[in-house]
Amino acid sequence: MPELAYLNGEIRPINETYVPIEDRGYQFGDAVYEFIASYNGKLFCLKEHLDRLQKSMKGLSFPKLDKSFIESAVYELFEKAKMPRAGLYIQISRGVAPRDHAWKKDIKLQIIMTIKKVDELDPKIRTKGIDIITVQDERWSNCDIKTVQILFNSMAKQKAKDQGAFDAIFVSKDGIVREGTSSNFFIVKDKSVITHPLTKNILPGITRMVIMDLARDLGLKPEEKFFSKTDIFSAQEAFLTGTLTEILGIKAIDDVPIGKGKPGEITQKLYKALREKAK
Ligand code: PDD
Repeated sequence: MPELAYLNGEIRPINETYVPIEDRGYQFGDAVYEFIASYNGKLFCLKEHLDRLQKSMKGLSFPKLDKSFIESAVYELFEKAKMPRAGLYIQISRGVAPRDHAWKKDIKLQIIMTIKKVDELDPKIRTKGIDIITVQDERWSNCDIKTVQILFNSMAKQKAKDQGAFDAIFVSKDGIVREGTSSNFFIVKDKSVITHPLTKNILPGITRMVIMDLARDLGLKPEEKFFSKTDIFSAQEAFLTGTLTEILGIKAIDDVPIGKGKPGEITQKLYKALREKAK
C-alpha cells in the first residue's frame, strides 16, 4: 500500500494530495499536530495522543471537535494503509481563509493526516548512544501546546547535525534543562529517573509519561524536578524519549561524556520494557 494522506474526509496517495495555499497553518503556523506510532498493527497510546490533541486545540481557541470523529478518521486511514509499523501524522489547522491575522468565526477546521512506514533507527545508534549539544531555549512560552510552530526546534536539530551531533536539548536563559527538539529529556541518578516538571516550557510527552510509569514498575523512582546543566554532568545516565525516538541513550553532551560514555543499564532496561509494553 502506498503512503496515504487524509484531507477533510478523502483518502488518496500522499503525492496526490494538496492543501490550499491560504491554509492558516501554512501562513501563520495556526495549526496543531500529533504524531502517533503503531507497533504490530496497533496504534500506541492513541487515546493519550487524541486527548493531547484536544488540549492543544483548546489552547489555541479552536472550535471543539468530537473525539470520536477524529478517532474514526484515524482508524479509517490506519486500516486502509495496512502498515503494521506506521507513523501517523495528524495536523489540524484553523482553516483556509484570505490572509488576515485575525480570523472569522465561521472558519472551518482543516484536517489532514498522513501515514508512512516507520524507518527504524539503526540499532547500532541505540547501543552506542548519541552525542547531543545544548542550545539556549528561545522558543515561545506555550511549549505545552503542540503547534506546528516548531521552526526553532528544527533549527536546533539542524545545528546539532551540522556539528556532527544527533540532536540538541534546550536550556533556559537561567540554566534550566528543558527538553529535546522533538523529545523529552531525562537523567538518572542512583535509582532516580529525573525529568523536567510539566510546565508551559515543555511538551507533556506521552512517552515521558509511559517511561515514568515503567520506571516505577521497575522499582525506580521517577521524579519531576528542575535541574541544571551542571546536574547533567554528574548524572550516571541520560536519555531522550519520544514517539519515534522511543528511548535513546546519550553518550556525551557538548562533548562531555555522560556516565560511562555509553547508554547505561537503566536506559536499556527501560527501552526493553517500553518495547514489551508496545507489543
Ligand atoms: N515530537 N518534546 C517535543 C518538543 C516534541 O516535539 C515531542 C514529540 C516530544 C515527545 O512527545 P511524545 O513522547 O508524545 O512523542 C517532546 C513528535 C514526535 C514530532 O514532532 O514528530
